[in-house]
Amino acid sequence: MIDVGDLSRAEWEHLYATCSDIIDHPADYLNACRGKVAASLFYEPSTRTNFSFQAAMQRVGGTVFGFSDPNATSVAKGETLKDTVKIVSAYADVLVIRSPKEGAAKAAALYSDVPVINAGDGGHMHPTQTMADLTTITRLRGQVDGLSIGLCGDLKNGRTVHSLIKALAKFEGVKFYLISPRELAVPDYIRAFMQAHDMRTVEVTGLEPVIPQLDVLYMTRIQRERFVDPLEYERNKGVYILTRRKLLRAKKDLLVMHPLPRVDEIALDVDDDPRAVYFAQARFGMFARMALLTDLANQPRTAPPSVEIGTMPLCTNPNCITQTERYLPPLVKQSENADCCGFCDGSL
Ligand code: NCD
Repeated sequence: MIDVGDLSRAEWEHLYATCSDIIDHPADYLNACRGKVAASLFYEPSTRTNFSFQAAMQRVGGTVFGFSDPNATSVAKGETLKDTVKIVSAYADVLVIRSPKEGAAKAAALYSDVPVINAGDGGHMHPTQTMADLTTITRLRGQVDGLSIGLCGDLKNGRTVHSLIKALAKFEGVKFYLISPRELAVPDYIRAFMQAHDMRTVEVTGLEPVIPQLDVLYMTRIQRERFVDPLEYERNKGVYILTRRKLLRAKKDLLVMHPLPRVDEIALDVDDDPRAVYFAQARFGMFARMALLTDLANQPRTAPPSVEIGTMPLCTNPNCITQTERYLPPLVKQSENADCCGFCDGSL
């Protein structure tokens, strides 16, 4: 599970059916991963995603080992990602990886004998958060098709937004309101993707004027750690703050969502509004991960095909995994008629 865009709608429906069944009948899944072991490689800080995977694996009867501080592992001795993955995939049945480098999960999957789950790769993708988001919308609104969805905040660096947009291309009649400062608008590859998939999109800089149109308002944090220029962060921090007053004109059945952690973009007085579903969303995320682990941890082991040894990164994105793991093969993919990096989707 590297990029949620790789899932067909039917595959998503299948995962969602399992997830829904787990929510309704958790006791039926107590042994779904009995004897299975997940390895959790967290190269970047995390509370929700890390704990959520651990809780999910334990609730389906499996166990987890791993690290949340790479400095305490052989990574600190200079071990490559390839070697860490080779070793860890020899010990585990499924591998969960989070990294500040874009394309890291794709790189891990090239060398792993067991399924790899992308738990967030830099500003690129976060597919299991998207599973949490789609589960929340489907459980609370009945369906995703036909909804008006506002994505607000740091749409440039927010990986949860990129993943969610890719997944929503599989649904019918969704209308998007992309709400961000101009300099934090969605990256080019996401804009090209939305155009190629005829996704109905309105781009605006103001939140308040569009609130009344929305069925879902997906707030995001300005991603301070991803800014190359600290001044750019200073200019944009605190730009959107959702308050109870701003919700007065919103629909009565709006869903206010947020992948969390929040900084200041949702005022505390919104938490008690019944439309605020972000804490429920985190719990749905755990159930979605239980469904995914139940499927992937039970797959047979298969040695991956050998890949070319690279010498020079093709991609110029400074956050791409190929910049630091120089042996990675020169993967190019065609996306919307342009050549893109096969790891981070950056244009070549
Ligand atoms: C998000 C992430 O890590 O991308 N958090 C999460 O996984 N729930 C959002 C964020 O950090 O802003």
